[in-house]
Amino acid sequence: MVSRRAFLRGLFGSFLAALAMLIGLPLSYKWRKRMSPTRHSMPETRSGAIPLPYPRIRGEMSLEEAIAYRRSIRDYLDEPITLEELAQVLWAAQGVTETRYGFRAAPSAGATYPLEVYVVVAPRGVVLPSHDFLEPGSYRYVPQSHSLLIVRQGDLQEPLYRAALEQEWVLNAPVNIVIAAVYERTTRRYGERGIRYVHMEVGHVGQNIYLQATALGLATVAVGAFVDEEVQRIIGAGPHVHPLYIMPLAKPLEPYRVSKEELIGYIESHRKERR
Ligand SMILES: Cc1cc2nc3c(=O)[nH]c(=O)nc-3n(C[C@H](O)[C@H](O)[C@H](O)COP(=O)(O)O)c2cc1C
Repeated sequence: MVSRRAFLRGLFGSFLAALAMLIGLPLSYKWRKRMSPTRHSMPETRSGAIPLPYPRIRGEMSLEEAIAYRRSIRDYLDEPITLEELAQVLWAAQGVTETRYGFRAAPSAGATYPLEVYVVVAPRGVVLPSHDFLEPGSYRYVPQSHSLLIVRQGDLQEPLYRAALEQEWVLNAPVNIVIAAVYERTTRRYGERGIRYVHMEVGHVGQNIYLQATALGLATVAVGAFVDEEVQRIIGAGPHVHPLYIMPLAKPLEPYRVSKEELIGYIESHRKERR
C-alpha cells in the first residue's frame, strides 16, 4: 500500500499530466487535421484520442505456456496486426489493473509510473474493425482511458530502422512499441536510486509485452541498441522523455514451441553431467 502522502504526491503528478494533456491536445489535434488529407476512420473522443478495444482478462494460452514459448523472434510475416491485438499488448504493458488508485499491469516503485509507451505504426500496419487501417505515425498510449493519442503523422518505419542501427526486424514489423522513461517522476522521490528503479521497471513492462505477444500468437524482441536522440525525435517525444526499449510487434514467420519432454530431457542431461 502507498502512504497517504505518497498517494497525494502521485495524484498531484497525474493532475499536472492531465493539465499538460489539456494544453497539448488541441495543438496536436489541429496539427493532425492540417496534416491529414483523409478523414480518420476510427471514432475519436472529444479530446482527439482513439479509444482502443477493451482489454480481455482471459486468454487461450496458460501463463506457463506463454513463459515456455516466449522467444525473441526477428522473422515476421508481411501482414498487419489487428487493433484488438495492439490494444491487448498495450494494456499488458501499462494498462490499468486496479481501479481505486489506477495501478497498472507492471509494478512501479512508489507507483510513480515513469514510463511512457509510444507506438510507431507502419502504413497498413494495424487493421481496424472497419477493415481500414490505422493512420501511420507515432502514438502515445494513455493508460487511464485505454486510448491512443497521435503524436506524429507519417511513415516513420525507415527512420526508426536507421535509428535502431538498421536492425531489419524494426523495419519489417507492422508496429514498433517504444518504451520511454521520464526519470524525474521517480528520482523526485527516490533521488539517484530512482534511476535503477526506472530500469528495473522497463524490464517488467518488456516482459509483459513478450508474454502477452506470445499468448496472442504474436512475435517481439527487446531492442536496446539504438541512437537515443534519434528515436526520441522520431516518436515526437520531449527532451525529458528517454527511449529505453524498442519492441517490434508482428506475426511470426514461425512461432517458437518447446515440449515438456524436451525440457525434462535437458534438465536430466545436466543432472547427469554433474554426477
Ligand atoms: C537489455 C536487452 C537489450 C537487447 N537488445 C537487443 C537488440 O538491440 N537487438 C536484438 O535483436 N535483440 C536484443 N535483445 C534480445 C536478446 O538478444 C535476447 O533476449 C537473447 O538473445 C536471448 O534470447 P530470448 O529472448 O529468445 O530468450 C536484447 C535483450 C535485452 C534484455
